[in-house]
Order: sequence, then structure tokens, then C-alpha cells
Amino acid sequence: MSEVLNIALPKGRLGQRVYNLFEQAGYYCEDLKIGEGRKLIFNNKELNINFFWVKPSDVHVYVERGAADVGAAGKDILDEYSPDVYELLDLKTGICRMAVAAPENFVEDPEKVLRVATEFPNIAAKYYAGLGRDIDIIKLKGSLEIAPIIGLADVIVDIVETGTTLRENKLIIKDEIMQISARLIANKSSFNFKFKRINDLINKLASLNI
Ligand code: PRP
Repeated sequence: MSEVLNIALPKGRLGQRVYNLFEQAGYYCEDLKIGEGRKLIFNNKELNINFFWVKPSDVHVYVERGAADVGAAGKDILDEYSPDVYELLDLKTGICRMAVAAPENFVEDPEKVLRVATEFPNIAAKYYAGLGRDIDIIKLKGSLEIAPIIGLADVIVDIVETGTTLRENKLIIKDEIMQISARLIANKSSFNFKFKRINDLINKLASLNI
């Protein structure tokens, strides 16, 4: 029997899309019903695979430390945390953008330090350093759109997918920082020691015509 393959998938919308790809590629688990129940570990004994259902921003931690051999993480997370993992394949799902957004009537004063609310301080810092702009980063963990409306920040650096959240909070995109999609990542030693298994997975996912 081949070695066990441990796969970390991000819970939520992105995980559903990524799991569908794994399923199409033949990596499935009968009792894995996403969004139902509270179970977080699933296995398929015949295929000798385990799925771990983890927080999207934790996938790279499981993979970097070898608790999972492979995983799926957004390019935003990989750029923000720079984990020591191999990035193997663009899964071309979970496509969105990292953008700067502000209230419709916001006029930037270049003389003042710009207050930037974000969940991605490293991405924001790098972007504004490239522009030579002084900023004050306000690190938040969600619902960023509120910050510029109630005066906590001037702008936000956040993920935009459909644009609905910005629209409903009367914010507009000022600049796009990067395109984002989900990536297949692997633990570096797993990639060596389980090369055949991981390579089979890459080939099957890559042949899906995604
Ligand atoms: C993300 C992001 C935006 C929203 C963008 O939030 O932070 O708020 O999605 O999506 P849209 O362009 O399709 O409206 P998420 O739903 O992950 O929750 P969060 O606010 O807790 O980060």
C-alpha cells in the first residue's frame, strides 16, 4: 500500500471549491459533507488519504510543520506569511483581488500618514513601501469595511471577490495590489519522501483543465 497522504483544506467557501477539485481528481471521502456537522478529520482508508479541515489562514502552518503533506492556500496567505513550503500548482479557483478601497468621497492628503486597516499587514506594508508612502497599519481580523466609515482608518487593504461588500458599504476600489487564487502547497520533506504520491496528485489536479 502507498504511504498515507495528509491533506489540509481550508474550511468555508474556498474549501468547498478546492474539495470539488480534489474529488474530480479522485481524492474523495464519502463522509465528507462540507458545511455539515463539526467533524474536522476525514479519511478514505482505500485511498489511504486523510483530509483535515482547518482555518484558511492556518493551512500553511499544518503544511510547513509537516502535520499535513499538502494543502490548499490562497496566494494572499502565502504572500502574507511566506511559509517555508513548496508552491506546486495554481488551482485557479478562489479567484479574487487584493485591493485598496476607501469611501467614495475620500480625498488623500499626501502630507499626512495614511491610516490603513487590514488583515494583511505585510502585503500592505510592501505595497506602500513600493510607493514610498508613510502609513500607519491598523491590524484587524475581519469586517474591515467598517473602519474607514467610522473613522478608524482612511483606507482598507482587503480581498475583493464579487465587490458586493464594498458596494453595500459605499466603498470604492482605489488600486489593485494583486490577483489571488488558491495554490497547492507541499511540505518540503514530504515532497521528497512521498514524491510519487504528491506528484500523482499534481498530475491529476493539473489534468482537470481548470
Ligand atoms: C472577505 C473580505 C471581504 C469580502 C469580499 O471577507 O474580507 O469582506 O470577503 O467579498 P465580496 O467582494 O464578494 O463581497 P470574509 O467573507 O472572508 O469575512 P471577513 O470579513 O471576516 O474577513
